[in-house]
Order: sequence, then C-alpha cells, then structure tokens
Amino acid sequence: MLELRNINAGYDKRQVLNDVSIKIQPANLTVIMGPNGAGKSTLLKVMFGLLKPDSGEILLDDRPLRPEPSKLVHQGIFMIPQGKRVFRNMTVLENMELAGHFWKDRSVFKSRLEEVLEHFPDLKPRLEDLAGNLSGGQQQMVAIARGLLNRPRLMLLDEPSIGLSPKLMTDTFNKIKTIRDTLGTGFVIVEHNLKTLLPLTDDAYILDQGRVVYNGPAQSQTLEKMTASIFETKETLS
Ligand SMILES: Nc1ncnc2c1ncn2[C@@H]1O[C@H](COP(=O)(O)OP(=O)(O)O)[C@@H](O)[C@H]1O
Ligand SMILES: [Mg+2]
Repeated sequence: MLELRNINAGYDKRQVLNDVSIKIQPANLTVIMGPNGAGKSTLLKVMFGLLKPDSGEILLDDRPLRPEPSKLVHQGIFMIPQGKRVFRNMTVLENMELAGHFWKDRSVFKSRLEEVLEHFPDLKPRLEDLAGNLSGGQQQMVAIARGLLNRPRLMLLDEPSIGLSPKLMTDTFNKIKTIRDTLGTGFVIVEHNLKTLLPLTDDAYILDQGRVVYNGPAQSQTLEKMTASIFETKETLS
C-alpha cells in the first residue's frame, strides 16, 4: 500500500538516505532495523511527510503521494515518533482525546474509545491518571491506543523498545500482532536490533549507512547471517 521508490534524502547538504526503496504490504508487520545513525528515523520522517526527499517517489495505493502529516492521519497512516509517546502531564483520557479533536461528534469518540480499550484492559482503570505516572510499557500502550482511535491502516513506530525490558518488549510485540490479527492494522516498526522478535513479524529491511542491504522475509537464514555480521561486528568493535 505504501511504497517508496529510489528515495534520496538528508539534511542541508548531508545526504542520509541513498536510493532507498521500500514496499509496505497492507496488514503486515514490517520491521526496519539498522545500527544507530543508519537513517531509520530519517526514513520514517520521509514516509510521514516530516522531511521532503531530494528525489524519488512515494506512492499510496499505487498513486503518487506528497505526504503531509495532518492529511496522512485521514489517509489512514499514523506515526509515533522516537521517544515521544505520551503527553506526560496530561491524563490518559486527555491523551486519547487529542486523537479525536477533529471529530465533531463526541459520541463517535466515546464509542471508538470503548472499542480500542477492549484491547488494552490495563488502561481502563487508569484513564484519570497522569500519563507520566504510568510504566514505560503502559505509556507505549497509550500511544498505540491513541493511534488506533483513528482506525489507521498503517501505524509507524520509531523504536518502541526504548526504555522497555526485553519481557515488556515481547509483550508489546504480541499485543501489536494481536491488533494486526483482529483489526487488520499494518505496522512498520523501526528498531535498532530486533533479532529476538523477528519470529513475530512478516517482512524485514536492514538499513546500513542509508542503504537498504536486506529486503525480504523476517524469517530467513540470509537475514540471520546479515544481522550477525552488521550488529555483532559493530557492537564488539564499539
Ligand atoms: N535534524 C537533523 N539534522 C542534521 N542531521 C541529522 C538530523 N537528524 C538526523 N541527522 C543525521 O542523519 C543520520 C541518520 O540519523 P537517523 O535517521 O536519526 O538514524 P537512526 O534513526 O537510524 O539512528 C545521522 O548521522 C544523524 O546524525
Ligand atoms: Mg532513530
């Protein structure tokens, strides 16, 4: 559904993404991995219209798209930026209301909230609590739940694992997978290294120094070998 073709992008004179092509299949869990500085966040910014590429094409459902964040929400795409999950000084309910501010009808918000909270029973008793008082894992759930209120076809998550334990990360991924299975929402998840969670996902990309060096199924021996060579070599060296 969302496709990037031959994207070159960067900041001022510094090129970060080199000829990046990516195809996101509807209702799939797609992971984009890569070392720090590989250009993962830059890629998500391009997808969500926060950064204009220098060249290349973006297509939504095979039609050329000039992404703009405020329009994309209505086109069914929602992004949770790196490190920005919730408004900590607002209650969970107020965080949720931010997603629905453009609906004229309050009853639509209420029924959607009820529908979404079915997937997040832990949040139900916390609606009046300040979001900043929730655990990291719960804050992540608030961010995802807020996105789901818009019934997106695709959610873009930038490093959802930051600050979460491996166990919480696995729980989060299982939750994401359940949401995908029941609501049909596709997810693009950008992570540094997700090796242990790859069995839960469908498609994988590896980005290294702004180039796609792997593109294929998330479960493959080639991918295993590549993650070993890219991450383990770099991490032992650093
Ligand atoms: N706003 C910015 N201005 C200039 N350079 C940036 C900016 N954001 C990121 N960069 C640079 O672009 C490169 C890729 O960054 P980023 O996309 O954040 O990588 P990743 O998310 O994979 O860690 C890095 O070298 C980073 O320093
Ligand atoms: Mg990043």
